[in-house]
This record gives sequence, C-alpha cells and structure tokens, in this order.
Amino acid sequence: MQGVNIPKHVGIIMDGNGRWATARGQKRSFGHKEGSANVDKIVTHAFKRGVKALTLYAFSAENWARPKEEVDGLMKLLKDYLKKFAKKLYKSDVRLIVIGGREQLSNDLVKQIEEVEKKSENNKSAVLNIAINYGGRQEIVACVNKLIALNKEITVESISENLYTAVSGEVDLIIRTGGELRLSNFLLYQGAYSELYFTDVLWPDFNEEQFDKALSEFGQRKRRFGKV
Ligand code: FPP
Repeated sequence: MQGVNIPKHVGIIMDGNGRWATARGQKRSFGHKEGSANVDKIVTHAFKRGVKALTLYAFSAENWARPKEEVDGLMKLLKDYLKKFAKKLYKSDVRLIVIGGREQLSNDLVKQIEEVEKKSENNKSAVLNIAINYGGRQEIVACVNKLIALNKEITVESISENLYTAVSGEVDLIIRTGGELRLSNFLLYQGAYSELYFTDVLWPDFNEEQFDKALSEFGQRKRRFGKV
C-alpha cells in the first residue's frame, strides 16, 4: 500500500449479514455473529494501514423495526463487543465512542458504553466510532436543538463541531458492502464530500484484501470539494 493516500476517516456500512446466513441455510442471527467476528479483523487492519478514525454502522435508528429476536441478538453482540474491547484496552491506544441516541438502549448497554468511553477517553492513536441507534437526520436535528438550547449561532462550523463525530471530523471514504447503492441515513452531514465505495461482497466475507482495494481506489480519486 506504499504511496497510496490513506483516508483519515473511513465509514463502513456493514451490509449483507442476513443474506450471507440465508445462503448457508442458517438464521439471520448467525450472519450477524459472523459479521461481528469480522469487525475486529477489519478494525485492526484499518488502523494498521494508518486510518485515524473508523465509523461503523452497527444499528440504525430504523433497525428497531426488525423482529425482536434479531434486535435482541444484535444488542447482545454489541454489548459483548464492548465488553471484549474494554478488557483489551490496556494494550490498545484506540479511543472508542458510541454515536447515536441512547434513550432507547437498555441500561446495561448504556453502562457498558459509558465504561468503555471513559476508560478509553485519553487514548490518542485512533478513534473507533460505533453507530448504535444512529440516524444521520436525527443526529443533525439533535445537534441543531442543542445549539439552540445553548443559544449558539447555527453555522456550518457550529454544526460540525457539535455532531457525535466532532472528534473525527468529516468522513473521507464511505464503504458499503452487500451490493446496495445507497447511504441509508449514515453520516449525512459529515459525508457531504465523501468518496463512496460500493462492493457486492457481503460483510462477513469482506476481508483485509477487499479493504485494501477500497483504499487503492480512494487513492486514485480526484477530490475537488466543489472546486475546479
Ligand atoms: C446489515 O446486514 C447489518 C446490520 C443491520 C448489523 C451490522 C452488525 C454487525 C456487523 C455485528 C455487530 C457489530 C459490531 C460493531 C460488533 P443485514 O442484516 O441488513 O443483511 P441483509 O441486507 O443481507 O439482510
């Protein structure tokens, strides 16, 4: 990957767990389990490549409409992931931040989130944002309401500085696995000038090599930010 311009902040829409499981005659929850196991692999690899912030779309504000069994399974996987992350924190310099509304999450999960965030808050080498109960529109509305409550002026900058991802800034590259060509309410404000990379590969099959392919393609894009 020498000579490739590495994006500072990468967002990933991890789609395709359900189809991956169905294709194997298994329940959708099996796909989420495999997808969850894949998270560690890609997170480690992305930071090794020099990415400084990674935002993963784990559960959207709209995902509550899925069957209860599937929602409960996903919540458990997220809690387990955070627990495991907290245990390994002593040998990691990654800061973990959970983005999205917390009101609908269980007390248990919120406690786990707060613990990992607090324990990792001084870590400096990279930031891992996990989007849980997240929606880009909801984020913008919450942010504007916060600014109004603080009696602050609403500007492009004041919004940027008060989004959940304020620490990580704009997202340079958004990767979506699973073949759909849309953003599904992910990082709408931060992604105004993101490069988009879509692949048919389903999330549990998305490996280091495919991540590198996305980085290489990003390296070839000419980013003009509306200028000539
Ligand atoms: C989309 O696949 C994926 C999700 C809604 C959940 C993503 C969650 C994980 C990868 C596991 C947990 C995450 C972490 C950070 C530990 P889909 O179910 O919509 O798949 P389909 O489009 O094939 O139905």
